[in-house]
Amino acid sequence: MASSTAPYSAQEIDLANLSLEELWMPFTANRAFKRSPRLLTEAKGMYYTAADGRRILDGTAGLWCVNAGHCREPIARAIAEQAARMDYAPGFQMGHPLQFELAAQITELLPGDLDRVFFTNSGSEAVDSALKIALAYWQAKGQPSRTRLIGRLRGYHGVGFGGISVGGIESNRKQFASQLLPNVDHLPHTHDSARNAFSRGQPAHGAELADELEQLVQRHGASSIAAVIIEPVAGSTGVLIPPKGYLERIRAICTKHDILLIFDEVITGFGRIGAPFAAEYFNIEPDMMTVAKGITNASVPMGAVFVRRGIYDTVVNATEQGIEFFHGYTYSGHPLACAAGLATLGVYRDEGLFERAASLAPYFEDAVHSLRGARNVVDIRNLGLVAGIELASRPGKPGARAFEVFTRCFQDENVLIRTTGDIIALSPPLIVEKRQIDEIIGAVGKMLAQVE
Ligand SMILES: Cc1ncc(COP(=O)(O)O)c(C=O)c1O
Repeated sequence: MASSTAPYSAQEIDLANLSLEELWMPFTANRAFKRSPRLLTEAKGMYYTAADGRRILDGTAGLWCVNAGHCREPIARAIAEQAARMDYAPGFQMGHPLQFELAAQITELLPGDLDRVFFTNSGSEAVDSALKIALAYWQAKGQPSRTRLIGRLRGYHGVGFGGISVGGIESNRKQFASQLLPNVDHLPHTHDSARNAFSRGQPAHGAELADELEQLVQRHGASSIAAVIIEPVAGSTGVLIPPKGYLERIRAICTKHDILLIFDEVITGFGRIGAPFAAEYFNIEPDMMTVAKGITNASVPMGAVFVRRGIYDTVVNATEQGIEFFHGYTYSGHPLACAAGLATLGVYRDEGLFERAASLAPYFEDAVHSLRGARNVVDIRNLGLVAGIELASRPGKPGARAFEVFTRCFQDENVLIRTTGDIIALSPPLIVEKRQIDEIIGAVGKMLAQVE
């Protein structure tokens, strides 16, 4: 034990006597976890250390967020220095230089006139902020009837009431179904394993699914629709890659009817698919983007909304004087997050990590598709450094087979993967080496052969 009265790090905690009961864990089967916990205590580069001392290869960049690898020295140093210099500054009617500098540097990565930045602390907050910005924009523009929001089935936009309303994951909505936002519609999802199974990169079939948007416009009238929000690549529901031509059609329909298009790039942002953002990768300019995760390499919580200049100008210029947008968070643009963000951008830039992701993508693609033919594998899909491996479900037990692969990879193979339902999702840090890709795929392949 350290000399202080309270333990401050995992090293100072008596793990053998650690009580697990008090904590209510998020998105976790609490009882099962507490019966057989999986605890991580340290991280460096591509590896975690588990509580029992094992080194665990990180096949998921934490939760799709540690894009530059763990505990990067420049980022840790920037956070420590900032914590000692100025821990916090109020963000309402006050500012500090780091948040302006980070906003300016980020916009250099963004396409077109997407050059206004609103900071939040998470992806969920970024999504709710973007939805509010859309409503505020149409009010300011003198079209207050534009309030309808359109999401997509199998979309994940975090857990705020706005996010779960436009999101399309039934399990995230059903406990709260009576209190979701009104005036929300959902486009169909684009997953079609009958036509597209084992596609490499963008699948060939499904661009026409975008035409559902045109039908929603016909049904409700464009003058009632504020915005469409979609993940360019749906991550959390199992890595669903957009079919060729689909995003282009969504963009064209939004443009035709003057509907705002929001790309939720919480996962795809900051290099995951081998470009700074999916917007660049697909060469499609949304009107807003939501990000989080990789913005600080997950070292300090942060999210943001990127907004086209015209949207900012419309909202800000609509008010004679005083506050223009009644929204914000105590920790919007927190100094530690900004310091972490600036250092993170530096690491991405200095090490060329987005380009590295692009150059590793073909190797990663071959590696994941080598699992075709493995027991129970019914589909494999990939883009950049993200992949989904879909398994046939056990009768009456959806998710059980993939979850067993996950626990066994962790326990027996020292590899961290992620599962959603019966889909294994892989998204290693962008610093991953080819031999580590082989190790991750080797572990998954071995477990697929063993797990019934
Ligand atoms: C596309 C997308 N949007 C929003 C979120 C929510 O982000 P957070 O968990 O930081 O609130 C996530 C989280 O995975 C996400 O993948």
